[in-house]
Amino acid sequence: MAQVLLAHLYEQASPQSLALILLLFLIAVHLAMPRSRAEKLLSKLPSPPFKLPIMGHLHLIGSLPHRSLCDLARNHGPDVMLLRLGTVPTLVVSSPRAAKAVLRTHDHHFASRPHSAVANILFNGSTDVAFAPYGDYWRQTRKVVTTHLLTSRKVRSNRAAREQEVRLVLARVRAAAAARMAVDLSEVFSFFANDIVCQAVVGRFPREEGRNKLFREMLETNAKLLGGFNLDDYFPSLARLNLVSAKAVKHKKRWDDLLDDLIDKHASKTANDEEEEDFIDVLLSVQQEYNLTRENIKAILMDMFEAGTDTTYIALDYAMAELMRKPQAMTKLQAEVRRCAAKGKEMVTEEDLSSMSYLKAVMKESMRLHAPGPLLIPHFSTADCDVEGYTIPSGTRVVLNVWAMGRDPTCWENAEDFMPERFLEEGMDAASDFQGNDFRFLPFGSGRRICPAINFTTATFEIILANLIYHFNWELPPGSTGINMTESFGMDVHRKENLLLMPCLAQDV
Ligand code: HEM
Ligand SMILES: *[C@@H]1O[C@H](CO)[C@@H](O)[C@H](O)[C@H]1NC(C)=O
Ligand SMILES: *[C@@H]1O[C@H](CO)[C@@H](O)[C@H](O)[C@H]1NC(C)=O
Ligand SMILES: *[C@@H]1O[C@H](CO)[C@@H](O)[C@H](O)[C@H]1NC(C)=O
Ligand SMILES: *[C@@H]1O[C@H](CO)[C@@H](O)[C@H](O)[C@H]1NC(C)=O
Repeated sequence: MAQVLLAHLYEQASPQSLALILLLFLIAVHLAMPRSRAEKLLSKLPSPPFKLPIMGHLHLIGSLPHRSLCDLARNHGPDVMLLRLGTVPTLVVSSPRAAKAVLRTHDHHFASRPHSAVANILFNGSTDVAFAPYGDYWRQTRKVVTTHLLTSRKVRSNRAAREQEVRLVLARVRAAAAARMAVDLSEVFSFFANDIVCQAVVGRFPREEGRNKLFREMLETNAKLLGGFNLDDYFPSLARLNLVSAKAVKHKKRWDDLLDDLIDKHASKTANDEEEEDFIDVLLSVQQEYNLTRENIKAILMDMFEAGTDTTYIALDYAMAELMRKPQAMTKLQAEVRRCAAKGKEMVTEEDLSSMSYLKAVMKESMRLHAPGPLLIPHFSTADCDVEGYTIPSGTRVVLNVWAMGRDPTCWENAEDFMPERFLEEGMDAASDFQGNDFRFLPFGSGRRICPAINFTTATFEIILANLIYHFNWELPPGSTGINMTESFGMDVHRKENLLLMPCLAQDV
């Protein structure tokens, strides 16, 4: 009813008067709302003052939400606090103890996702994995992903493709080293991550047809649409009027064209192809078994691109940036890589990696300080549960600030320092990993919604970093004063400035 009324007004009024009417309307709705039972429960939670009508606490969220939320939590609710973001009450979880209550004790009641207008459009009613509400459909698609696409067998069998991509990167960096030019490692990592995922998902198709660049563009638009603190999500009654939705519809059509074409080509591929099966082949082969429509398949494929590319590139970019800022760590890593891999190899291979414990510690430490998704993907409760002495009503949106947990000075020694040693065998956090068992350290989440690609990511991360460190010594470009760690927030958090570094071919390996 309200939406019909608004849509009607929208057609008649000028933008200014529309805004005014809208505001009055929302205030009226706000005041007329009876206090529900859920509302009474929520009002018991700690919550910052300075709440505005309509906006709620939205004005307190700056351009780097993980940092704003961390500051707010430290002052108003170190374990849990309630924020009113527009019309949506949002539970912000900032301590490992509260995270454990949400992601382990009551995981089954917090495993859903809030409704998102944009995800609904892009993923055909959120029939992907990441945005699907908790239930049978999600269970099925998640199973497809974990038992057919991202299994350890699949990760192993993808090895040749990974090595091929590493070779391409090495050739490019070698050329820069020979010409004494800086390379833009942010760009190199971004292309690399994109190519790795493209290769796994659609096989040899994209590069041959120059599609990788297109994929990258498409993903950038996805990230813009889904990204950050989307007004649609906080004022759901406005969603139909919002331009974002219109853009999403247009963008979805482009995805349809691209993916329909790829799926058609795969469906008509001859069976005697001896190539490794890619994700599209696999999805087509289990389509009947899992009752997947073509729309479902496209949604799952988009998910893989969306979830897998930017996150991976950001993790690599931060690791390299931190290593450049901490020369002792770089030297230590270099020594390890050059000791574990034999002299004079064309490339470090996956066998060499298993003994590189410092490399693994570098990955952990970098993800601790710079989780590419610092707030995970929002969760949504489907039953009343008790967390830290408060009853959280069913239907509450939940944001977990894993960035804040990773830097919590009460549970990490020298929390802000980049110290991979803490994760080594003799270090203070030796037993800690990011598989979702240490609630201080959740860059991939935990519980039912944990990232299904941890091992895929680890394999990708280690092989490229080890090779770049084995073959080259790295320096800042002449005239550079250091690495700018300024962050930028969108769908995920990355460094704003690209990472320009000088490679020098290492002589002694
Ligand atoms: C550095 C790399 C990556 C990081 C840091 C990362 C992190 C995450 C996080 C934080 C979540 C949400 C967990 C939650 O809501 O509690 C997630 C979900 C997901 N990730 Fe990843 N991810 C990475 C790479 C990948 C890759 C390479 C893929 C696929 C090829 C992938 C596929 C997914 C999927 C499908 C989900 C949704 C799971 C669900 O909702 O059930 N991720 N990831
Ligand atoms: C999903 O796709 C089908 C087939 O193209 C379409 O009829 C339907 O409206 C779509 N649903 C949503 C929610 O986008
Ligand atoms: C990922 O790797 C770890 C350690 O190597 C292993 O214990 C785990 O079973 C693997 N997970 C999957 C889903 O393959
Ligand atoms: C697929 O759909 C059929 C009929 O609609 C149903 O009998 C079957 O149980 C479904 N299978 C799965 C795995 O959902
Ligand atoms: C770092 O980058 C940001 C954003 O691009 C810029 O505003 C800032 O001045 C830079 N800081 C330094 C020290 O160069």
